[in-house]
Amino acid sequence: MGHPDNPLLPMPATIQKIIPETPDVNTFRVTLDDPEAQAAWHHEPGQLAMLSAFGVGEAMFSISSAPTRKGYLEFSVKRMGHVTSALHQLAPGASIGLRGPYGNHFPYGKMRGKDLLFIGGGFALAPLRSLIDFVLDPAHRGDYGHVDIIYGARSSGDLCFKRDLFENWPQAEGTTVYTTIDVAEEQWSGHVGFVPAYVEEVAPSGESRVALVCGPPVMIKFTLQALDKLGFADDQVYSTLELRMKCGIGKCGRCNIGSTFVCLEGPVFTMAQIKALPPEF
Ligand SMILES: Cc1cc2nc3c(=O)[nH]c(=O)nc-3n(C[C@H](O)[C@H](O)[C@H](O)COP(=O)(O)OP(=O)(O)OC[C@H]3O[C@@H](n4cnc5c(N)ncnc54)[C@H](O)[C@@H]3O)c2cc1C
Ligand code: FES
Repeated sequence: MGHPDNPLLPMPATIQKIIPETPDVNTFRVTLDDPEAQAAWHHEPGQLAMLSAFGVGEAMFSISSAPTRKGYLEFSVKRMGHVTSALHQLAPGASIGLRGPYGNHFPYGKMRGKDLLFIGGGFALAPLRSLIDFVLDPAHRGDYGHVDIIYGARSSGDLCFKRDLFENWPQAEGTTVYTTIDVAEEQWSGHVGFVPAYVEEVAPSGESRVALVCGPPVMIKFTLQALDKLGFADDQVYSTLELRMKCGIGKCGRCNIGSTFVCLEGPVFTMAQIKALPPEF
């Protein structure tokens, strides 16, 4: 759904709440100004939207809230450059532009009856959070087996979604959360070490389980090797490709890998699909 007259035109939206996650990541809770557009909005876990800071520009963000959370959308934005810094300067009540949703989504229908293993690193937990909250929602929880979440960040201060990690998700039925940080800290009594090594230590079996991986490229690379050792086949592993998607609707030609347009065919791919892409990825 974009603007009714032009899919490239952002719809006016308002920031309702800003939740600080880390020193440079904030979660923005946003509603569309037109109540009919807000009520009609539908996205799937893994989809994206463009947010615009007026007078500065727009950028693509994963929708970090689940579609089961009605009435608002959440975006977890890391301060990087022009647009993200402008968004970070706004306060609740500020107007922004929003267009989307874009991209495909995690095929949760195909995952029914299976155990799920979420593996996230840094602020890239954002798109996985949408699916985690979707499968843990009482309306869907019965469709999936055990849910394991392995998540790491550089330091305890860099862990995103702390309320979910330490309160909401561990309390959910049939769910285990494993958190780790890269380097030991005096106040941290949890696990220390990189995510891929922790995956091998937790050692979830690849039998009847789907893995969903999102994080920095180096984390993904070594996590895939760990999953391979644990017996996960490439078509049991999903990830999202964070490329320079600009228009989101196949018009600008910024996101293609060979003849594959990430915005039209992705951003969610199986590892089997990613390995079949040309080596420029
Ligand atoms: C599919 C997809 C999903 C995404 N999901 C998310 C998400 O959920 N959350 C999120 O936070 N981001 C996400 N991103 C990334 C986000 O879109 C980019 O961070 C954003 O486009 C950056 O926009 P910007 O205008 O703030 O940065 P730009 O101004 O375009 O800057 C980009 C880069 O240049 C560097 N830079 C900018 N100005 C300077 C300067 N003066 N000196 C030195 N370096 C500088 C920045 O550090 C940054 O590395 C996603 C991207 C894609 C493609
Ligand atoms: S983002 Fe413009 S063509 Fe894909």
